[in-house]
Amino acid sequence: MTNSTKKRVLTGSRATGMPHLGNYFGAYKPAIDLQHQYELFLFLADFHALNEHHSPAENRLNSYRMVASFMACGLNPSKSMLYAQSAVPEVNELAWILSCQVPFGVMARAHSFKDAQAKGLDINMGVFNYPILMAADILLFDANLVPVGQDQKQHLEMARDMAQRFNHHFSETLVIPEPMISETVAVVPGTDGEKMSKSKNNTIALFADDKEWKKQVLSIVTDAKGLAEPKDPDNCNIVKIFSLLGTPDEVRAMREKYLAGGYGYGHAKMELLEKIQATFGPMRDDYNHWMGRQQDLRNLLHEGSRKARHLAAEKLNAIQERIGLIGRPF
Ligand code: ADP
Ligand code: TRP
Repeated sequence: MTNSTKKRVLTGSRATGMPHLGNYFGAYKPAIDLQHQYELFLFLADFHALNEHHSPAENRLNSYRMVASFMACGLNPSKSMLYAQSAVPEVNELAWILSCQVPFGVMARAHSFKDAQAKGLDINMGVFNYPILMAADILLFDANLVPVGQDQKQHLEMARDMAQRFNHHFSETLVIPEPMISETVAVVPGTDGEKMSKSKNNTIALFADDKEWKKQVLSIVTDAKGLAEPKDPDNCNIVKIFSLLGTPDEVRAMREKYLAGGYGYGHAKMELLEKIQATFGPMRDDYNHWMGRQQDLRNLLHEGSRKARHLAAEKLNAIQERIGLIGRPF
């Protein structure tokens, strides 16, 4: 964590439930794959999780699930920055500064807010301010690259605009972050064909027992074509999810079986299930190991958060200086 010539990659995930394949392919894997080339900042977006209302026990469990998942996915906390958003109060201080510069009209056009409004949800100010807190997460740590799924594209654009606006008013201070959205994994479909999401009941969990995985895979929605009929691999959720996991040859073979007929959706689901077990089974052992050591996870987070705060405080001081605030006495 000392090579300052390396660029920074940063991403966070809301601790709102069990991480799923969409989170893994859209954000965790691309971020963790880069941990040797870049300085990786991977954090628990536990403040962002609060605009959904869960019990204290659930909030705690969701945080552990997320950190245990990061570890099982190969995060090396001695090379990278692993921390909790709630343990770095400077993030909120920057969020306030940014919120005093973003026009209300821009915020009112945010998809996350408009979607919540369209669904008639009970909207709290956390939902409305969400993109500002996210921009602060990114800008406070001078992140160069931010791996996310397609759903976060607008938030990234807003973060870039906030940085540009700040730099324009107060001179070059904030790094303009680049989104990293890979086309093949931008929107991982859920079992119902919609975007896989913790808030919908359509996920395939990154880690689950075999029975649960089977239940989730069997619930993937398909059309009603019978076993003998040829099928369309381009419009099938099973193939879409299998394509993320299988080798090119395996995916080609599945597509050919679809086109030939005599291969049912039940067969395809079993192949997908086996692939999930083979890919994530060994990582699941790690996940379970960490879930049995929650105090160690907590210590890891505290240790990382301490390091992150140190960097955050330096950056916030520079920002306050630029604006003409008195700043902190240290
Ligand atoms: P969720 O929508 O399930 O609550 P999070 O808000 O925790 O997920 O998202 C964490 C990261 O995972 C974000 O970068 C988000 O864009 C990405 N992500 C979530 N769902 C998907 C998906 N279905 N496909 C691709 N990326 C996704
Ligand atoms: N908003 C992201 C999501 O809902 C999570 C998140 C919070 C995030 N802060 C971030 C992602 C900073 C990338 C960078 O998925």
